Amino acid sequence: MKEVNVGICGLGTVGGGTFNVLTRNAERIAGRAGCRIRIGRVATRTPRDDIDLGDTPFSTDIADVVNDPSIDIVVELIGGYDTAYELVMSAIRNGKHVVTANKALIAMYGNELFEAADRHGVNVAYEAGVAGGIPVIKAIREGLSANRIDWMAGIINGTGNYILTEMRAGRAFDEVLKEAQALGYAEADPTFDVEGTDAAHKLTIMASAGFGVPLQFEKAYTEGIADVTPYDIAHAEALGYRIKHLGIARRRDNGIELRVHPTLVPKSHLIAQVDGVLNAVLVDGDAVGQTMYYGPGAGDEATASAVIADIVDVARSVAAQSQQRVPYLGFEPDAMESLDV
Ligand code: HSE
Repeated sequence: MKEVNVGICGLGTVGGGTFNVLTRNAERIAGRAGCRIRIGRVATRTPRDDIDLGDTPFSTDIADVVNDPSIDIVVELIGGYDTAYELVMSAIRNGKHVVTANKALIAMYGNELFEAADRHGVNVAYEAGVAGGIPVIKAIREGLSANRIDWMAGIINGTGNYILTEMRAGRAFDEVLKEAQALGYAEADPTFDVEGTDAAHKLTIMASAGFGVPLQFEKAYTEGIADVTPYDIAHAEALGYRIKHLGIARRRDNGIELRVHPTLVPKSHLIAQVDGVLNAVLVDGDAVGQTMYYGPGAGDEATASAVIADIVDVARSVAAQSQQRVPYLGFEPDAMESLDV
C-alpha cells in the first residue's frame, strides 16, 4: 500500500487530537484512504508530555516540516494569522498540500492562498475551520452541488453557545467562559468567541463555498454575545424565544448579505434546542429544500475528525498521483459581491 506523509504543525487541542486519532485509527483510515497515512513529522514550540509521539520525528521549529522533502501534506494547526500565513505560503511554494483548521487565516487570506495553491497545483483544504467536527463544507460543496443555495444560518461558535446555554441555567458569563477555555473550546484570544469574530470568519467561509463568491470577511456585520444579559435571556424565555448567536448568509437581489448576531429564535425551532458546545447549520437549497447539520462544534477529537477527513481526501489524490484537486471554491457564473451591511 502506498504511503503518504503528513507533517503536523502545532500540538495544541486540535493538533493533539489529530495525532491521537490518526495513530489510533491508522488501519481503518488507511483502508478508507486507499493508502497509509504516515505522520512523518510533528513540530511544536510547546511540547506535551501527555502525548506519546513514539518514534515520530519531532521538531520545535515548524519550518522543519515545510522544508522536509518527504512531507506531502502540511497540517497547519498552530492558529493565528502571521506565522500560519508564512507557514502555509511556504508549504504551497514548496509544492506541498495543506490541510488547516484555521478559519481566521482562510477568512482573511484565503483568496490569495487559493490563488497561490492554484499556481502550484496543490490543495488547501479547510473543513475543520467551520463547525468543528460537522462536515458542513463537504455537505455544501459536494452534497448540495446541484442546488442554488439561497440562505444558510447556524450556530457556528461552540463557546458562545455553551455560554448562552449555561447562562440560561443561571451561571455567570465569566465563569462559563473560563470553563470553556479550560475545556479547549475557546480561541487563544477568547474575545474572538464572545465578540462574534470567530463566527464571522466561519460564515465568510461557508458563504464562499455555498454561493461561489470570494471570501469577503470585511463585509460581514459582526456582533457578539458580550452584551447579552441574564435579564435578556429570561425575558426571551418568557416570551417563547431563546437567544441564539447565529451566523446568517442570504442571497439578495444585489449581493450576499453576511451577518452574525444574537437572534431571538422560537423555542419550538430545532435550532433553539441546540445547546452546549454543539453547532448546527441550516442550508436552504432550491432543489433539496432545507437541510440541517448538527454536531460538536469544537473540541480535540471532534475537530480532528474533520482535519483527518481532509487529509484522507488529499492523500487519495496524492497516492493516485492525480492532478485532481479538492474543490475549494466553485465560483458560480453569476458570483456576486457581499453587501455592505
Ligand atoms: N472557538 C471555537 C468555537 C472553536 O468555540 O466554536 C471551534 O472553531
